[in-house]
Amino acid sequence: MTQRKKKRWENQELTAIGRREARTAFYEDSFSRISLNGKWQFLYLDAPELSPAGFEAPGAKEGWDTIDVPSVWQLRGYGQMHYTDVLYLFPVNPPYVPTENPTGIYKKSICLDQEWLKNDTILKFHGVDSAFDVWVNGEHAGYGKISRLPSEFDITSYIKEGENDITVRVYRWSDGTYLEDQDMWWMSGIYRDVELINEPKQAVLDCQVGASLDDDMETGLFSVDLTFKQSEARGSWMLSYEGEEVKTGTFETKEGTVHVQEKLPNVHRWTAETPHLYDLLVTLGDDTIRVRPGFRRIEIRDQQFLVNGQAILLNGANHHDYDPEEGRTVSYEKVKEDLLLMKQHNINAVRCSHYPANEYFYDLCDEYGLYVIDEADLECHGFEWTGNYRWISDDPSWKHAYVERSIRMVKRDRNHPCIIMWSMGNESSFGCNFRSTAEEIRKLDPTRLIHYEGDFEAEVTDVYSTMYTRIKGMKQIGESEMKGNKPHVLCEYGHAMGNGPGGLKAYQNLFRKYKRLQGGFIWEWYDHGIRAEKDGEIYYNYGGCYGDFPTNGNFCIDGVLMPDRTPSPALLEYKQVIAPVEITKVAGSRTKIEIKNHYDFLSLDQVVLYWSLEENGKAIQEGNIETLSALPHEAEQVEIPLTVFAVKKNTDYYLRIRVCQKYETNYAPARHEIAMKQFDLGIRQDELEVRIPQEELEVTEENGILTVKNPRICAKFHTVFGNLVSLERDGKMYLTQGPVMNLYRATIDNDMYKKDDWMNKYFIQKGSEQTESFSWEKKGGAAVITMEKYFGCLNQSWGFHCTYVYTVYSGGQVKVQLTGKTIQNGKEEPEFLPRIGVVMKAAGSLQKTAWYGLGPQENYPDSKEAVSMGVYESTVDGMGTNYVFPQENGHREQVKWFAISDGDQALLCRMPEGLGMNLANYTDESLEKARHPHEIERSGDVIIHLDFQHSGLGSNSCGEEQLPEYKVKRQDFSMTFTLEITKACQAAEETTRQYLD
Ligand code: GAL
Ligand code: MG
Repeated sequence: MTQRKKKRWENQELTAIGRREARTAFYEDSFSRISLNGKWQFLYLDAPELSPAGFEAPGAKEGWDTIDVPSVWQLRGYGQMHYTDVLYLFPVNPPYVPTENPTGIYKKSICLDQEWLKNDTILKFHGVDSAFDVWVNGEHAGYGKISRLPSEFDITSYIKEGENDITVRVYRWSDGTYLEDQDMWWMSGIYRDVELINEPKQAVLDCQVGASLDDDMETGLFSVDLTFKQSEARGSWMLSYEGEEVKTGTFETKEGTVHVQEKLPNVHRWTAETPHLYDLLVTLGDDTIRVRPGFRRIEIRDQQFLVNGQAILLNGANHHDYDPEEGRTVSYEKVKEDLLLMKQHNINAVRCSHYPANEYFYDLCDEYGLYVIDEADLECHGFEWTGNYRWISDDPSWKHAYVERSIRMVKRDRNHPCIIMWSMGNESSFGCNFRSTAEEIRKLDPTRLIHYEGDFEAEVTDVYSTMYTRIKGMKQIGESEMKGNKPHVLCEYGHAMGNGPGGLKAYQNLFRKYKRLQGGFIWEWYDHGIRAEKDGEIYYNYGGCYGDFPTNGNFCIDGVLMPDRTPSPALLEYKQVIAPVEITKVAGSRTKIEIKNHYDFLSLDQVVLYWSLEENGKAIQEGNIETLSALPHEAEQVEIPLTVFAVKKNTDYYLRIRVCQKYETNYAPARHEIAMKQFDLGIRQDELEVRIPQEELEVTEENGILTVKNPRICAKFHTVFGNLVSLERDGKMYLTQGPVMNLYRATIDNDMYKKDDWMNKYFIQKGSEQTESFSWEKKGGAAVITMEKYFGCLNQSWGFHCTYVYTVYSGGQVKVQLTGKTIQNGKEEPEFLPRIGVVMKAAGSLQKTAWYGLGPQENYPDSKEAVSMGVYESTVDGMGTNYVFPQENGHREQVKWFAISDGDQALLCRMPEGLGMNLANYTDESLEKARHPHEIERSGDVIIHLDFQHSGLGSNSCGEEQLPEYKVKRQDFSMTFTLEITKACQAAEETTRQYLD
C-alpha cells in the first residue's frame, strides 16, 4: 500500500503558511483601512482539485457567480444546510477529509494608490470556515486555518499600484474540521469581515497591557509590553480615565520591545457591576493605537475564585454567533443588542460557546460589564461515538493544532478586563494536548483562570466545570472537596429547548448556598432557527428541514431568545431567578419586606423600591422608597407604609414590590426594573350574596338530550354519554362541548424522554369516559344533574371514578363540581402525568380574552418567578407562545376567572380556588402533529383546558427532570368552576360577586 498523499488541508501539523503571529486586537488605531466586504466573484466546486487552470491569475473571470462577503455559502444557495449535534458528516479518519470537498473560490480586485503603497499592506480575515489559501496577483500569499479566529497576511511584497487581485480558495473540510465539531449548523465560507490595513513601516505591532491590583486592592499594577515592527522605536504613552490624564511616559528602544511598569494609587476597579475602563494611547510618530485597560485582579482562595478580593457569582448565558438569515455571520449592531439584552435581564456573564467571537464582542463586554469565558475553537465531539474519544486529544502529532487554538485566542484577547477565564474548548475528552495547552496558556497569561469542562478530574484547570449536573450532584459538589476542592462552575445548564426550562430557582438556591458553587451559564442564548417563508408566513427551519440526514432536528432550537430575538418566557423567568436583589416578606408581618443584596460590589443605594397595593390586580395605593443602602451580600428590612383602606368583599389584596435602577446606566434607563415580587396580603372577606331566583327553569328530555332552559340560559346534557353538550343563550352557542377529563399535553421538548411511555405504553392521549349513571332533580330554583363516570386510557388498569355535579341556576350560572377518585387494578402506570384536568370547547367567535390569575406571560408550576396575579387581557392567539417547534404552551397558573368574548357577550368561567388554564385555537392533537407553527391545524372552536394540576417543565431535554414536587401524581382530586354568559364589559365586575347556592 502506498502512503496516502497528504493534501495541504489534511495536515494537522501545518497550521498556516505566511500567516502573521497572532496579536492584540487594538480597540482603535490610526491606520487607514479598506473594507473588502461586499461582492466578490465566486466559483463553487465539488473539490479543490477541480479548480480551473489560472483561477488565481489576476483579472475578472467569466461565468463566475458573485457572492456576498461576509456570508456562509450554504445560505447563498451553494451546497446543503446540515445540522448535527455530535456527528461528523464523513468517516472519522483523521486528518483526512472527503475527496468530495466543496470548495469556494473568491476573487476581488482592489485598486491601491501610491500613497497607500508607502506603508505595508496587511490582509486580515476575521473568520473563514474551515481552511483557505490566498493568492495575491497570482502569487500564493498564504494559508490559514481555525475558522473562528482572525488570520493576517502581510501582502506588501505582492501588491502594486493600481488594480490588485485577491483570490481566496476556501475548503469546506480540512483537518481543522476534526476540531470544529461543535453542536451547530455546518456552514462554510468567508463568514466574517475581510479588510486591508495600511500599516506604517514603523508601527506598534502588539501591545500587551497588565492592569491588576496590589494586595490592598486599591493600587493598580499597571504594565505595558510593546512590540514594534522595527527594532528602533521612540514614542510616548498616556493612560487616562474619562478624559483625564492619569500617567504618561516616553520610551526609546533599539530592541524592538518596550516594557513599562507603574504603580497607580487608588484606581477605579473594573467589575461586571462597575465596568470602569481606562484609555491607553501609545503614540509612535504620527500614529496611535488605543487599548482600554480595566484594573481588576482574579485569584483563587479557599474554594473560590475572587474578583478584586471578592467571591463572585456567575449568572451567565452561553452565546453562539447566530443570525436567522445569515447563520454564523453576525453584525456589530445585533451583537451589541444581544449584550444589552443580557444586561437588561440581569445576566452578568457570558461564555463564548464554543469559539472566540468577533473582536468587538469583547470591547462591548468590557464596556457594559459582563464576565467572559473566552473559549477556544475546539471540539471533537464526534470521536466520543467512535468509542475512541481521546484519539486525537491524546495524540502528540495534534499537539500544535490544539495549543495554537488557545494561544492565538489568548494573544488576540488578553487585554480585555471582561475575560476572566480561558476555556480550552468543549467536549473533546482529555489527553496530553490539553495538558500542553494549559501549560502554554499559563506561560502567556498567568492572571486568568483556565477552564475546560472535558478535564473531568480538574487535573489542569483552575475551576472544576461540569454541565447539566442534576441538583443532587450539585449538592454533592457543594458539600465535598472533590476534584481538588477547586471552585465549581456549571458551564451549561437549564437547557432552554422549546418550552422551558423549569426548575431554575432550585439551582440558584444552591449557587447561593454553597460557597464552592459559583454559578452557571444557561444553555443557550438563541434558538438557531433559519428564517423561511410560506404564503407570507414567517417560520424557522431546523435540522432535517433541508432533507439533511442524519440530523439532531430541533435540538438547535434551545435558546432563551426566539430566532427573531423575542425573549421567550424562559428569559423573563431567568431574569427574576438570578436577580441581584431578592425580595422576601418578613415572617409574621404584612408590611415588612426584606431586601437581600446579591450584588457582589454594588450597594443598594443605587436602586429604588416601588411598591403598590393591588386590589384584584389594580393598584389602589403606591409609593417608593429611595433610602435602601444594604452593602453587597447584606440584607435590610423596610416597612411598606400602607395607609388604612376599606376592604371590599370577595376581593384579593396583593402587595407588589419592584426594585428598579435609580439611575440610568449604559444599558438601561433609570427606573429599569431589576426584580419584582408580589405577596398575597391574605386579606379577604368572602361574603356570600343570596342569589335572587329568576325565571323558572324548564327541564325537558328528548332523544337522549336533557335540556335545562329559561330566557337566561339553555344547557343541554347528554343522558347517554353523560356530559354537558352545550351552553346557549338567545339562540347563540357559547360552550360547544362541556368538560371531559384529560391527562395529556402536546409533548414539550423537555418531555422527550417521557413521550414514548406516555403515548405508546400508557396511551394518556387516548383517554375516554364511560357513563355509569345519569340523574337529575330540581333543588329549589335550580336543576341539579349528576353523572357518575369512569375515566381511563386505552388498555390501562388505572383510572378515575368521576362524579360530575352540574347545578344550573335560574340566574344562568352553571356550576360544575368534579371529583375524581383514582383507581388501580393492576400494576403498570406512568411515573407521573402531564396534567389532571378537563378540556372543553367554546364558540370560535369568542376570541377576546381576559383573566385574573398569573400572567401576563405563560407560566408553569416550576416557572413562575416572573409573573404576578393580575387582570390581563389578550386574544386567544395572543395567549400562546409561538415556539419554533410546536408544543404545549400558553398555560397560566392560579387562574381565578377568565372570560372569552366576541367583544359584546362573554363566556365567563370562575374558579375561586384557582386552577391552571389554557386557551387556544387548536387542539393538543394538532399541536402535537405540527412541525412548524403554520402547520398547526386550527380548530373552529376555542379549546379550553382547566387543570387541577399541571406538571412542571423541567429541563430534561438535556438535564434535570421536573423536580418531584412538580410532577403530577395519579391522585384523588376535585375541581369546581362556574360557567355563565354575561356582557363582556361586566365580566370582571360579576366575578366580585358570590352567591349562596
Ligand atoms: C452540550 C454541548 C452544547 C450543546 C448542548 C445541548 O453537551 O456542550 O454544545 O450540544 O449540550 O444543546
Ligand atoms: Mg457537542
